Amino acid sequence: MMELKIQLIPTGEIILSPEKCMDSYCYNCKVVSSDGVHGMMESALTARDRVGVQDFVLLENYTSEAAFIENLRKRFKENLIYTYIGSVLVSVNPYKDMEIYTKNHMERYRGVNFYEVSPHIYAVADNSYRSMRTERKDQCLLISGESGAGKTEASKKILQYYAVTCPASEQVQTVKDRLLQSNPVLEAFGNAKTLRNDNSSRFGKYMDIQFDFKGAPVGGHILNYLLEKSRVVHQNHGERNFHIFYQLIEGGEEDQLRHLGLDRNPQQYQYLVKGNCPKVSSINDRSDWKAVRKALTVIGFSDGEVEELLNIIASVLHLGNLQYGEEEGSNVCITSDTQLKYLSRLIGVNGSVLTEALTHKKIIAKGEELMSPLNLEQASSARDALAKAVYGRTFTWLVNKINASLAYTDDSSKHYSVIGLLDIYGFEVFQHNSFEQFCINYCNEKLQQLFIELTLKSEQEEYEAEGITWEPVQYFNNKIICDLVEEKFKGIISILDEECLRPGDASDVTFLEKLEDTVGGHPHFITHKLADGKTRKAVGREEFRLLHYAGEVNYNVNGFLDKNNDLLFRNLKEIMCGSENKILTQCFDREELSDKKRPDTAATQFKASLAKLMEILVSKEPSYVRCIKPNDSKQAARFDEVLIRHQVKYLGLMENLRVRRAGFAYRRRYEVFLQRYKSLCPDTWPNWQGKLPEGVSTLVKHLGYKPEEYKLGRSKIFIRFPKTLFATEDALETRKHSLATKLQASWRGANQKAKFRKLRNSAILIQAWWRGILAKRTARRRREAADTIRRFIKGFIFRHKERCPENEYFLDYVRYSFLMGLRRNLPKTVLDKSWPTPPAALIEASENLRKLCMQNMVWSYCKKISPEWKHQMEQKMVASEIFKDKKDNYPQSVPKLFVSTRLNGEDINTKVLQVLGTDKMKYAVPVTKYDRKGYKARPRQLLLTANSAVIVEEAKVKQQIGYGVLKGISVSSLSDGLFVLHVASEDNKQKGDVVLQSEHVIETLTKMAICANKIENININQASIMFSVAQGKEGIIDFTPGSELLVVKTKNGHLSVTAPRLNSR
Ligand SMILES: Nc1ncnc2c1ncn2[C@@H]1O[C@H](COP(=O)(O)OP(=O)(O)OP(=O)(O)O)[C@@H](O)[C@H]1O
Ligand SMILES: [Mg+2]
Repeated sequence: MMELKIQLIPTGEIILSPEKCMDSYCYNCKVVSSDGVHGMMESALTARDRVGVQDFVLLENYTSEAAFIENLRKRFKENLIYTYIGSVLVSVNPYKDMEIYTKNHMERYRGVNFYEVSPHIYAVADNSYRSMRTERKDQCLLISGESGAGKTEASKKILQYYAVTCPASEQVQTVKDRLLQSNPVLEAFGNAKTLRNDNSSRFGKYMDIQFDFKGAPVGGHILNYLLEKSRVVHQNHGERNFHIFYQLIEGGEEDQLRHLGLDRNPQQYQYLVKGNCPKVSSINDRSDWKAVRKALTVIGFSDGEVEELLNIIASVLHLGNLQYGEEEGSNVCITSDTQLKYLSRLIGVNGSVLTEALTHKKIIAKGEELMSPLNLEQASSARDALAKAVYGRTFTWLVNKINASLAYTDDSSKHYSVIGLLDIYGFEVFQHNSFEQFCINYCNEKLQQLFIELTLKSEQEEYEAEGITWEPVQYFNNKIICDLVEEKFKGIISILDEECLRPGDASDVTFLEKLEDTVGGHPHFITHKLADGKTRKAVGREEFRLLHYAGEVNYNVNGFLDKNNDLLFRNLKEIMCGSENKILTQCFDREELSDKKRPDTAATQFKASLAKLMEILVSKEPSYVRCIKPNDSKQAARFDEVLIRHQVKYLGLMENLRVRRAGFAYRRRYEVFLQRYKSLCPDTWPNWQGKLPEGVSTLVKHLGYKPEEYKLGRSKIFIRFPKTLFATEDALETRKHSLATKLQASWRGANQKAKFRKLRNSAILIQAWWRGILAKRTARRRREAADTIRRFIKGFIFRHKERCPENEYFLDYVRYSFLMGLRRNLPKTVLDKSWPTPPAALIEASENLRKLCMQNMVWSYCKKISPEWKHQMEQKMVASEIFKDKKDNYPQSVPKLFVSTRLNGEDINTKVLQVLGTDKMKYAVPVTKYDRKGYKARPRQLLLTANSAVIVEEAKVKQQIGYGVLKGISVSSLSDGLFVLHVASEDNKQKGDVVLQSEHVIETLTKMAICANKIENININQASIMFSVAQGKEGIIDFTPGSELLVVKTKNGHLSVTAPRLNSR
C-alpha cells in the first residue's frame, strides 16, 4: 500500500514521497542528517483510513467480529500481515515470501518502541529484548495458532532477529550460528508433511535463549514435548513420515546409501508408503539434506556421531521392511534375511539375538524367565514399537546433544537473562484424530488458558497500578475443558491411565465406556451413545467428542491404550542396551531395566511436562504472537473468511480485544504522549518544563478533550474512544506540515551557516599555509642571497689567490658571467672586431674562443659566397696586395666593384676581334696613350687577352704585347692613372715601353697583373718613372702632388704629372 515517506535531504528540503511498503501503513519519518545520524519519528496511525487500523483497539466498532475480520482482510489484501491487539501481535500466514525480513527491516525495529513503527514480529521481539535488558526480567514469546498458521516461521524470524541485531563477539557468533542451525536439524527429525502443513511440527518446542549482561546471546536450551512417534510406522493418506527419511534417501551419497543398505527410492520402504505421498512440490529433500548435514557440523556433531545417527535412521527403515512368516506350530519367524542382516549390523546387535527378541516375549513367572513366542500380530506390533522407541529416543538424544552444544559454559558469570520461545504444535483436527491429536489439542487448551489468565491479569493489574476502576469483562474461560482432560481421578487422562493399569481385559472400548460413565455429563464431552439424534450421526461408535475452545473434535479411541502405555517388550529393551551403536546405548539406559517401578504413561508424562512448561511461562513476562491461517489450501492471497472467523473466535481474539478496550481504547505513558503531541499546544511546545501529568492535562485541555473522553492515571493517559485519538492524530498531521517548513528553514539556515563556517575556516587555513610557504620562501631566498653576497665578498678578497674554497664561487661566477655576457655580445659580422674583455683566468680561453668565433664566421661567410663574388674578392685581394698603402687612389677603389670589362663586344671593332682570333679577350678598357716622344695624348683601347695586352686604335691593332715580353709595369704612388708597360727591348717588333693612362688604373692594372701573372712585377714609384724609348733612349715621367690632375711635357723633355692630393694614405 501507499506510504508517505518524509525525507530530509542534505539540501534542507523535506521530501514527502509515497513509498510502496509491504509491511506498514505508518510512515516512518526518518530524519537523515548529513552526518548520518538518524532519528525516527512516530507517525503510526496516519494512513489508517486506507488500510484499516494497525491496532485493533482503535477499531471504533470493537465488539463487532465482522469489523474485526474486515480489518484483517483489508490489511491482508495489502500484504500487511501483522496487526496488534494492544501488545499482542496477530499474524496472518501470507503463504508467500515477503520482503519484510531484511536486515534493513531489522534495523528499523531495533531499539524503537513497537507502537512507533508498523506492526511486525521484529517489534515484538525487540520489545521483549529491551524489557529483558532494562527490567532484568526473563521474557517469553508465546506463539500460538493452528497447524500451518506460521508459528514455526515466526519463531525462526525471532531467532534470526536476535542473531542479527544482538551484539556479538567471536564466541557469541558460534552460539548464534548453533542456535540458528538447531532449527533445520530439529525440523528434519521432528517435522513432517501433514494435510494441514507441508512442514508441520510434530513435537512441541520451547527454547530458552540466554543473554549475558551485555545483551549478547551466549547460550540456549531446548525443551521438547511429545514427539508424534506413531508417524514413524504409520501416516494418514497424503501425509509423510518425518522429513529426515526422505532427505537421507534423496540426498545421501551413493556410497553412504550402499553402506546403509538403502535404495534411492522411498517407495521401497513400508514405513514411507502408508501416506502414498513420497514427493511434495514445496519440499526439496535433496537441498534440505545438505542444509541438515551442514547444520550438524556447525552444532558440533563428529563424523562418527553422524554415521551412527544415520545408521539408526536406516535401521528404522529396515525394521519397517522386516517381514514375518509363520512356522509350523504357528510360531512366527522373520522371512527377510537381508533386512535382518543390515539391521543387526546397523544397530550393532547379534542377528540371532535380534531375531529372538523380535519374535518372542520374555515373561518372568515365579522368578523364572521364560521366552514366550509371539503371534504374527504381536510380532508386528513389537517391531513397530521398537521402531517408534528407537526413533523417539534418538530424537530426545538429538535435543540433548544440541543442548550440550548450546550450553552457556562461562562459569565466571552465572547470571544471565532469558527469552523463551514457545513454538508448539497448533490445534489440529483431522478426519481421523487419535491419541496424538488429543495430546496436542490438550496442550493448546492449556496455552489458551494461560493466555487468558495472563492477559486479563495484566490488564487488571495495569488498571490497578494506574488507579483506574476495573470494569469486569465477560469472556469464555476454557478452564472447564482443561479440567475435563487433566483433573485428578475424574479427568480423561486419569481414566485412560486407570484403564491402562488395571488388570483384566482393558481395551480401547472399555476405556470409552469408562469415559461415558465418568464424564458423560460434562457439557464439553459427547459420545455416540450420549449424543442426541442430530449429533449422533457425526460421532462414530468408537469416538468421543470434545468441545474444545477452538472447536469440536472427534477422537477415535483405537490405539489410545497402546499409545498411552507406550510399551516396549523388556527383551527388546535389553538388546538395545547392549547395542554397539553409541547413541542407542545412551538412549536405552540399563538402569531402566533394573527399575521395577512402572514408568508413567505417555499422557501423564505429557501432562506433567505441560504443567512444568506452564510454570516456566508464568515465571516470565509473556508476549504473544497469535498466528492465523488464511486458508486450508496453502495459497497466497486467499482470505477464507469462514476459516478465519473460526480462528478469531477460538483464539479468543475478540475477548482479548474486549478486555483491552474495557473502558479505554488507547493508553500511553505521559512522556510518550507529550513527546508526540506537544507541538499541538503552544504551552507544551517546544518543551514542557513542568510535571508530566500537568503537561498532558494542559495539552488535552487545549485540544478540547471532554472529561468523559479520557482519564489520567498515575503514569499514563487513557483515552476512551478511538475517534478522540484520531482527531488528535489529524491535528498532528496538519501541524507536521508547518513544522516541516520551519524545520526546513532552520535546517537550511544551519546548514548554510555550517557550510559558510567550514568554507571560511578552510580559506583561513589555506591562507595561513600559503603565507607560511611564502614567508619561508622569502626567508630562504634572503638567506641564499646573504650567502651569495658573503661568498662574493670573500671571493673578491681572495680573487688573486690560487683557486681555493674561498674564491672558487667568485671565480666560477666571474667566468660564468663573462661567458654568458660573451654569448650575448658575440660579433655579428667578420668586420666587427669588438670582443669583451676577459677576466684574467680566461684570457687564453677568450682568445681561442675569439679565433674560433672568427673562423666560424669566416667559414660560414665563405660557405655563403657566390662564385662571382669570390672572383671579385680574389681580384680585390690581388689589388690589395699590390696597392694597399702604396698608391694614393687605392682606398677610393676599394668600395667600387671591379667590372668584368669596360668595353663590350660592340665597342670593339670586329676587325680587331678577327685579328685576335681564338685568343680570348678577358678585359677591355679605354685608355689614353702618350706618345713616347712628344707625349701627345691619344685615345686607345687596351684589351687584355689570355696571352697578351693589345693596344687598339679603332680598327687597328697598334701594338700587341705578349705577356712573355712584358717585363714589368710601373705606376706612381700618387692618385694619377698613368702607368708604363715595360717591354723587353730584345723584341724588335716592339717600339719600346708604352705610357698609358686609365680612369680605372687600380682595376686595369690588377686585371693585367692577374692575366699576365705579373703581380710581383708592378713597381710603384715615388717621384718619377723611367721608361725606354726605341733605340736605347729613355724617357722620364715626373710625378708631383698638386691640386688637380695635369699631364704636360716639361721643358726638359720629361712628362710631368700632377696628381691631386687625396690624403688617403
Ligand atoms: N511469515 C511467513 N512468510 C511466508 N510464509 C510463511 C510465513 N509463515 C508461514 N509461512 C508458510 O506457511 C507454512 C506453515 O508455517 P509453519 O510451519 O510455521 O506453521 P506452524 O504454525 O508451525 O504449523 P504446525 O503447527 O503444523 O507446526 C510455512 O512452511 C511457510 O510456507
Ligand atoms: Mg510448526
